[in-house]
Amino acid sequence: MGRPSTAQHCAKRHRAGDGEGGVAWPSLAAQNRPPRPPLDSRALSSALFSFPLLFFFFFFSPPPSLTLPERARKNISAWPGISSPPRAESGGGTASNEGGRCSSRRTAAFGLYGFTQFTKSGFVEHAKKFREEDMQIRLDGKNCLVTGANSGIGFATAEGLASRGATVYMLCRNKERGETALSQIRSKTGNMDVHLEICDLSSISEVKSFATKFSLTDKPLHVLVNNAGLLEHKRVTTPDGLELNFAVNVAATYSLTELVMPLLEKAAPDARVITVASGGMYTEPLNKDLQFSESNFDGTQQYARNKRVQVALTEWWAEKYSKKGIGFYSMHPGWADTPGVSKSLPGLSEKLSGNLRSNDEGADTVIWLALQPKEKLAPGAFYFDRAEAPKHLKFSGTAASHGEIGSIVDSLGSICGV
Ligand SMILES: NC(=O)c1ccc[n+]([C@@H]2O[C@H](COP(=O)([O-])OP(=O)(O)OC[C@H]3O[C@@H](n4cnc5c(N)ncnc54)[C@H](OP(=O)(O)O)[C@@H]3O)[C@@H](O)[C@H]2O)c1
Repeated sequence: MGRPSTAQHCAKRHRAGDGEGGVAWPSLAAQNRPPRPPLDSRALSSALFSFPLLFFFFFFSPPPSLTLPERARKNISAWPGISSPPRAESGGGTASNEGGRCSSRRTAAFGLYGFTQFTKSGFVEHAKKFREEDMQIRLDGKNCLVTGANSGIGFATAEGLASRGATVYMLCRNKERGETALSQIRSKTGNMDVHLEICDLSSISEVKSFATKFSLTDKPLHVLVNNAGLLEHKRVTTPDGLELNFAVNVAATYSLTELVMPLLEKAAPDARVITVASGGMYTEPLNKDLQFSESNFDGTQQYARNKRVQVALTEWWAEKYSKKGIGFYSMHPGWADTPGVSKSLPGLSEKLSGNLRSNDEGADTVIWLALQPKEKLAPGAFYFDRAEAPKHLKFSGTAASHGEIGSIVDSLGSICGV
């Protein structure tokens, strides 16, 4: 891909001048912050805690019980993939043909990385490096659309944007839940310029009618947050005939973003699309079998594949629209105690009780990405806790597939008719 490397971006950050913050999306020169190489604190703590263990995982692959401290082992086994038997990669994969051994190693490495980084204690540790002034930027006059805004991370994001003066459009599928969330945000923030939009993102035709209606306003769209998502364990098919996780997590993200592109272009060069992906994607490479119809369905694996597509799609958009003045970023919120997690991952929710992030902590990096001057952000990058994060865990074998995103986008175009 043609985007500048992380090193180039870091160099760019290092060259940037200093100054004052406090206005809406100030230029980088107006920011008074020292450069911070991505993943500095986490790289260190991760290295200290997990390097010897990861070394074992990757090269010797012992059973987790031999290497992990008891508490960590007990807790990460709540992540469904950790306790599942190794899964064979589907034949539809675009990456090298890895077997279950590689897949289980990836899952174990992910669980370990997650336990040290994605929990509340990871957030508390990373937050020591956060700069208060990064979040003091105002968004008056900016239009923001947040999907799945009535609950969890989407609600916290909508509230955070509204509290900074943005005009916020909350896209929700259920009118009653949407209205309750809308009135809570209006009364908590005092911002009456917050609006409810109803759309069931599992339906491509609803996404299209919403985009058509929303585009009639002809207002520039400064921030699109693709947040709505789900993990459905059973293979459910939508009335359009799409597998449900894929329909909401991938098809809707792709279609909505493409369809509101003219509004985003109107907000250039400030426009940005932030997609709430997940660290779960570390366990899966890109896979051409978008609807998981070629092997035994596994909802957790499908969710991880969906999130991998979101991350690759973000990279692809950044390249495709590099001259349009729109920034594309994906991010991982960490493991947050949301209604979605307690419903879909009750084991994780219970075992990590007290060490899951709050909804506000989960939304922190989404809001940070919406506020920062674009010069400070790396196009197409994946962010976690206000810093660029790797898209692949070391030796996981997931990177090889990223060149294949073009053919996946072709499939998405024909499935969605967009
Ligand atoms: N929480 C975590 O630890 C975590 C970790 C990694 C990534 N994420 C990602 O964060 C995002 C938000 O998840 P969350 O944890 O905040 O879960 P959540 O509380 O369940 O929120 C999900 C939101 O998406 C909406 N949604 C689901 N299906 C929809 C549809 N068909 N049409 C429109 N909206 C729909 C939900 O609406 P309803 O309320 O009507 O269901 C809800 O507003 C997701 O993309 C998730 O994958 C979360």
